[in-house]
Amino acid sequence: MVSARAAVALFLLLCAASTSHAQGSLNLVCSVQAEWCQAIATGFQRESGIRVAMVMRGSGEALAAIRAEAANPRTDLWFGGTGDPHLNAAEDGLTQPNESANNAALHPWALAQWRQSGQRAIGVYAGAIGFGFNTEVLARRNLAPPACWEDLATPRWRGEVQLANPASSGTAYVVIATLVQLRGEDAAFDFLKRLHANVNAYPRSGTGPIKAVARGETGVSVSFVHDAVTEKNAGFPVAWATPCEGTGYEIGSMSIIRGARNAAQARRFYDWALTAPAQRLGFDAGGQLQTPSNRSAPLPPGAPDLNAIRLIDYDFARYGRSAERRRLIERWEREVGALPR
Ligand code: F6P
Repeated sequence: MVSARAAVALFLLLCAASTSHAQGSLNLVCSVQAEWCQAIATGFQRESGIRVAMVMRGSGEALAAIRAEAANPRTDLWFGGTGDPHLNAAEDGLTQPNESANNAALHPWALAQWRQSGQRAIGVYAGAIGFGFNTEVLARRNLAPPACWEDLATPRWRGEVQLANPASSGTAYVVIATLVQLRGEDAAFDFLKRLHANVNAYPRSGTGPIKAVARGETGVSVSFVHDAVTEKNAGFPVAWATPCEGTGYEIGSMSIIRGARNAAQARRFYDWALTAPAQRLGFDAGGQLQTPSNRSAPLPPGAPDLNAIRLIDYDFARYGRSAERRRLIERWEREVGALPR
């Protein structure tokens, strides 16, 4: 005999199961830091009843995976990562146009990304490139913090610099595209070759170098400055600077995959991710300090103020083009990455 209490429990269980079945599921690829990815997966699941399956990949790796499964997509939505690979995905027909009622709440730069991509990618956050350094390591080695791009290529930084690998990391691609825009392509590659002599590793992930700085494994990294502040706030002896010549920035983006099996759930997530409360989750859960794209979402406390940084007029149309990104990464692999150090 089943007791009344057990019968009620069974009934509730069946109701819960059928609700989640009715709400369906969402397959998410996530290109921000782990704590933020977890927070959006659980936060959205709790709010919507939609079951979220999430994998984390760097921006370049996410694009490669989405391209590989284009004929039979398993991913429904790509959240975060630098804007250029999202523009590549849009150009190559890997993602689909979408218009959210929440567009009205966004900063112009987030909507510029949406227009640029034929309504296929939308800005979720922004952040600027700069230098992160370990103040204790620099003091021990008697090194003044770098102030300008050119400083990093001088011999005193030999073996002290980390930058991510541009094939996997969107951060590193923004660095290369920034240098090309600041100096012209040949001069930028000349600089990258001289810098190479000072680089001790090119980690896969864009945050790899600043984490190595935080642990004291390297003196300086080229990173998004919001990631340097996150490490500082976690208690590491990390400080940051932005290059005197000016610097590039990202429009961290979100796209719905073309042919997504769970398109309705993806659209629901998309709307939710553009709201101010959802855009707080990165800070609340993992101390993430990007500038949110929703105008009502406050700049997280201690976040770098992009208005106070000398930003270049980053040419997203050109450097977000698939052929251009591929060409620059291949040139970097051939002329820089392959060189002995
Ligand atoms: O999550 C931190 C972050 O710096 C984002 O601002 C950025 O979009 C992403 O990492 C880029 O990661 P990756 O360089 O590994 O593609």
